[in-house]
Amino acid sequence: MKFPYRWRCCSNKFSFQNTRMKTWRQRNMIAAVLLLCVVGALCSDDMGTPVCGSSYEAACLTPADYLNRSAPINKEVAVGKKLIISLEGLSGSPVCHLIRGEDRVMTANGSQSMVTSPLSETDSGEYTLTCDSNNAAMFSTTVILHVMKRPTKPQLMLDGVDVPDASPLFKCVSEGFPKPTIQWSGNKDGEQSLKESDRKTESKILSSEYYNTGMMCCATNAEGQECSQLYDYDLQSSVMNKDEASTVTLSKGQSLLLRCRVNGYSLRSPVWEKGGRQLNARTLSCKPEEEEEMCIKNDSHYNVRMAYLSIRSVREEHNGTYTCTSTNKNSKSVYVHVSG
Ligand SMILES: *[C@@H]1O[C@H](CO)[C@@H](O)[C@H](O)[C@H]1NC(C)=O
Ligand SMILES: *[C@@H]1O[C@H](CO)[C@@H](O)[C@H](O)[C@H]1NC(C)=O
Ligand SMILES: *[C@@H]1O[C@H](CO)[C@@H](O)[C@H](O)[C@H]1NC(C)=O
Ligand SMILES: *[C@@H]1O[C@H](CO)[C@@H](O)[C@H](O)[C@H]1NC(C)=O
Repeated sequence: MKFPYRWRCCSNKFSFQNTRMKTWRQRNMIAAVLLLCVVGALCSDDMGTPVCGSSYEAACLTPADYLNRSAPINKEVAVGKKLIISLEGLSGSPVCHLIRGEDRVMTANGSQSMVTSPLSETDSGEYTLTCDSNNAAMFSTTVILHVMKRPTKPQLMLDGVDVPDASPLFKCVSEGFPKPTIQWSGNKDGEQSLKESDRKTESKILSSEYYNTGMMCCATNAEGQECSQLYDYDLQSSVMNKDEASTVTLSKGQSLLLRCRVNGYSLRSPVWEKGGRQLNARTLSCKPEEEEEMCIKNDSHYNVRMAYLSIRSVREEHNGTYTCTSTNKNSKSVYVHVSG
């Protein structure tokens, strides 16, 4: 749906030796085109001229459009789509091979296009497309295939947890292709860090920007958007607000970030318990760069006292009810469901 355009091409580029040949080719082409119409990618227009068109299921590459270019052909295709390489527009009786490394991945001739199976990320990379006509080399070109992927649901975590007298940072990480951009709710500016990877984006923001509100980070690229939120609970009242989730459903491996907060200079941080047992704040205290499965971090900003509970990567054992209680005995609970 991101590719509403159709590539129309090249009815004028066909060069045929004679009319008999042309009728024969046309008949054959119509048969091939009808077949491909079933596949849903190549369809003929009114005059039976083949149109290599991008569709919901497939993307299309017509090497004839690139004949005079020496630069590699860059082709972006969404994950799960097929790629059709159509030889329409090449003169003579072309036979083409798509080569990856040492392997001939696919072959096509004038009457038969190459159609890949649905592409996955591992299909990304460099290919060589070589074409011969009547056993004489026509051209050889590099095709760089970029299989696009929507962003992963961002991993949302605390960072900078060991800096004394400073609130931690929120860190949001997502992968996709093209590399996603990350936005923070309220249009606040995070700091996008420069990573070597061309697929992963990491952004950080001061948690104090959100000391009295909820927060969400969203990762976006051409293929879509995924968001993760801080589950925020205000213990000033014991009544759940409408934006306080009472159930959180996560898939295995996703991150979880809970926070509860209470106003009052004289109060201590609220405490988290799971299934009725208080979580040991000393053994579970968050440490920098450590892959602890679950950790707790107290913080305060102005007169707000808060306690975070962070899990980088949830497992089934993390399911259950988490309750946060303040020293003035208000409490709120959230049921965390982890699906396999
Ligand atoms: C490529 O160049 C030749 C002559 O240099 C020209 O006849 C032909 O139309 C060009 N093809 C394309 C696709 O631009
Ligand atoms: C084109 O390729 C198909 C499938 O490999 C084959 O059946 C057909 O005979 C070939 N046609 C020509 C003209 O080489
Ligand atoms: C957080 O604060 C509570 C008191 O409200 C305390 O018992 C606990 O040790 C603190 N946790 C950490 C990790 O400092
Ligand atoms: C959590 O999942 C485990 C299996 O991993 C199951 O035995 C347990 O009953 C679940 N607990 C709750 C509260 O859903």
